[in-house]
This record gives sequence, C-alpha cells and structure tokens, in this order.
Amino acid sequence: MAHTIIIFGASGDLTSRKLIPALYRLFQKQQLPAETRIVGVSRSPFEHEQWRDQLAESTKKFTGDGFDTETWHAFRENVFYHSGDIKDADDFGKLGKFLESIEPEQGADRVYYLSTMPQLYEEAIVQLGRAGLAEDSAGSRRVVIEKPFGTDLKTARALNTSIHRVFREDQIYRIDHYLGKETVQNMFVLRFANTIFEPLWNRNYIDHVQITVAEEVEIGRRAGYYDQAGILRDMFQNHLLQLMMITAMEPPARFDANLVRDEKVKVLHSVRPQRGGDFAQDTVRGQYCGYRDEEGVPPESPTETFAVLKLHLDNWRWRGVPFYLRSGKAMSCRTTQIVIQFRQPPHLLFGAKIREPEANRLVIQVQPAEGIQLHFQTKVPDAEMKTRMSPLDFRFHQSTHGDLPDAYQRLLLDAMNGDASLFARSDEVELAWGIIDPILGAWRSPAAPPLELYKAGAWGPETSTDWMRSQGREWFDVCPVLK
Ligand code: BG6
Repeated sequence: MAHTIIIFGASGDLTSRKLIPALYRLFQKQQLPAETRIVGVSRSPFEHEQWRDQLAESTKKFTGDGFDTETWHAFRENVFYHSGDIKDADDFGKLGKFLESIEPEQGADRVYYLSTMPQLYEEAIVQLGRAGLAEDSAGSRRVVIEKPFGTDLKTARALNTSIHRVFREDQIYRIDHYLGKETVQNMFVLRFANTIFEPLWNRNYIDHVQITVAEEVEIGRRAGYYDQAGILRDMFQNHLLQLMMITAMEPPARFDANLVRDEKVKVLHSVRPQRGGDFAQDTVRGQYCGYRDEEGVPPESPTETFAVLKLHLDNWRWRGVPFYLRSGKAMSCRTTQIVIQFRQPPHLLFGAKIREPEANRLVIQVQPAEGIQLHFQTKVPDAEMKTRMSPLDFRFHQSTHGDLPDAYQRLLLDAMNGDASLFARSDEVELAWGIIDPILGAWRSPAAPPLELYKAGAWGPETSTDWMRSQGREWFDVCPVLK
C-alpha cells in the first residue's frame, strides 16, 4: 500500500527543522516505504516548486553533511504543497480531492500530522471528520498530534473526548519525541534483554533514581509560549515522566503497543499524590537570573525555568526509593541522564573509616553522546587496600556508523507502520496531567516553596544542592560523562 503523510502547519519551524529532514534521511537510507508522498498544508499560498525550493535550503541546513543533491531531487518529486485554512470546511473538501488526485487508484494509508499551533488541533480533527477524511476506507487513517497535549487535565480530557469522536484510540499517535531517542529505546533493551540488571532493579539494591534533563539554552524567542507554560508543562508532564515510566515499569509480556503502555500507566498510578506540606518539602522551583528581562516576559513573572520533583512510587518494586526528577533552562551544560544510584554494600571493609566510599552508580546518558557508564569500586594499584571509583563505558556511536538517527525518524516510521509503542495513550497523558496539575496549583498558592533564583550556567539554585544534601544524598552534577 502507498503512504501519504499530510503535514498541517507546513510553514512552521518543526516541519522544516525536524519533519522534512527526518523524512529525507529515511528516504536516503532507503527506509521510507516505497510510494510515500508528503503533502504540506498551511495557509500560505505556495506552488509545489516554491515549497520544495524552500525545503531544499532548510533540509541542507539541518542535515549538514548528510545532504546530497541527487537524492534530494529524487525525494522532492514526492513532496507537494496544498494551501488551506484549518478553519475552512471547504478547504478540507479540496484537500480530500487533491489527495485522491496524487494517490494511486486503490488509495493509500494516510498519516495526518498536526504540527500547527495547539489551539488548532481540535478544529483540524473535527474538520477531518466532517470531510470524511478520517474513515479507514481506501487505506488506514492515522493522526499524529504534537505536544503540548492540553495545558492541564481538564483541557487534555476535553481534547481526548473531541478526538475520540472522530478517530479511534488505535488511530491516534500522541508524540513525545523523547521516546524516539535511541538511548530511551535502549532502556527497554538494557532492562529486558539482559539478565544482569533486572534482579538488582528494585528497592533492595537501589537507593534512589535521578532523572535530569539539563539544557544550556535560555528561552530565546519563545517567551509567548514559555511564560504561560513554565517548566512543569514544558518538560515534566511529558519528557521527564516518560523517562521515569520507562525506568520504573515492569516488563510487559510482549513488546506490543498496548502491553507496553499498560505497564507504563501502572507506574503513573503508583505515584503517591502530594498533599499539604509535601509541595514545599518535595519540590524545588527556580528561575534563572535575567529571565524577567527576556523579551516578552513580564517583569514580575513567577514562571519556573527550573524544577525538581521528588516522587514516591507506592508499589512492591519501588516503595521507599525516591525518584528525583530535575530539569532546567540556562544550566551548566546540555545533558539528559538517568542515574541509578545503588545502595552501599551491607558491610564496608575498605576505606569506611575515613569516609564512606561512593556506592555503585549506573549512568544512562540519553544525550548529547548516547551511552551508559557503570561506576564501581576498584583497588588503587600499589597502595594498601585503598579503593577508587572506576567507570565502565559503553558508547553508542562506537557500535554504529555515522550519527544516530534523530528521534523523528523512528517516530514517523512507526506512525506510518501503525506501531504505537512509542506514543502516549489517552490514559497515560491524562494520568500525567493528574500528577502535574496539583503541583502547578500548589505553586500558585501559599503552599508554594520559594522561587529560587539561579545564575545562568549553574546546576540550578543552590537550594537544590542543599536540599539534596539534607536528605543525605548528592546530585550527580557531571556534564556529559561520555563524550
Ligand atoms: C521540547 C521543549 O519539548 O523539548 C523545549 O518544548 C526543549 O523547551 C526541548 O528545549 C528539548 O528537547 P531535546 O530533544 O533538545 O532535549
């Protein structure tokens, strides 16, 4: 069956920066199914050729050395542009006719990709339904929805309800691009294709887990969006909770979309709700100095650009093992890492008199350099029984040729092939909001912990370091351990 990908929001940044480069790379690697057509839709009045020329420039820029003019010429033959307004029902009728005119007679599987402003998601879906474009008649019909999926539980629920009037749940692909990252997928393999980690992966051996997504960038020109959203909506409701689910979930019976998501959802069900004093005790909020001077940010803005959440999972595996989730803009460096901090050995024979030696640690580095590092004690040579921490490294790029694929390549291919394992289900998204909403509420109430300022280039506010120490623990504040 042929495929058509219809991108709403074709003139937007995501399309030129991520989607088209990802599709082009798939084509170049001969992974894009044969007979795949790409149709961009937005209001701007472009001719096909104009859009293709524009995309040639942006794709060249975003694929760098990977761009090859000859391959691009073959790829662009199947790229089309259709001008249309999401608010105009007639335009959807015209879009339907246009798609039929370029697809083979027997039809094609279609993926509608919503990369528009989030306020237009619902309208786009309603219009697709009205125009009969959501029916699986001549080929399957799927819809990919970008984040943010709602701004709180109420809006996410309302959006789910509207979408379900038009598409069945198995036709809906809610994107979280973190799930498309190779190292995140490797978490499944690390945990469930090896016997050596899983027996230790529980409260008997693990003291706590740290999940950090640190970004060096500030908010740039995104004040309009960011100041309303803040870090909890922008990073925690989706990316950080996804990383936590994959770290904490039980093994599914098979690697099947619903079975995987059932297990992930159980993790969210086990998150202990925060109440009363918990909000001040178990969360840290920060804002980088200079945030209020950014263009478009109100001078008194209370928006957080840094946060820490200490979550407790009340289940057999994790009871008593805190999960520290931390993210911030304007931090020391760009690194995303999951740190599994093991307990001390039950009896310390070496070095314990001076100070406790560091306990084992597994660092899963999601980005920038993808890999895994295991920290363990070894003897210092030619010294009594002195010990020191030594690393054992695995780097993904050692075992691959060239760069690892961008997350969107995997996700676009999966959506085309009907595999939803790496996409969020409706209950997952709603449960995630159910965890974040009360914190957002408390942070705008007298129960809020103070908003701590931090200097750009630090690991967040100093309070965050002191707060961790007060629990007898240390942040693993190391810029990418693997280069
Ligand atoms: C996006 C957020 O979802 O993820 C951005 O809106 C953030 O604020 C980005 O910068 C981080 O993604 P990545 O892949 O660069 O870690």
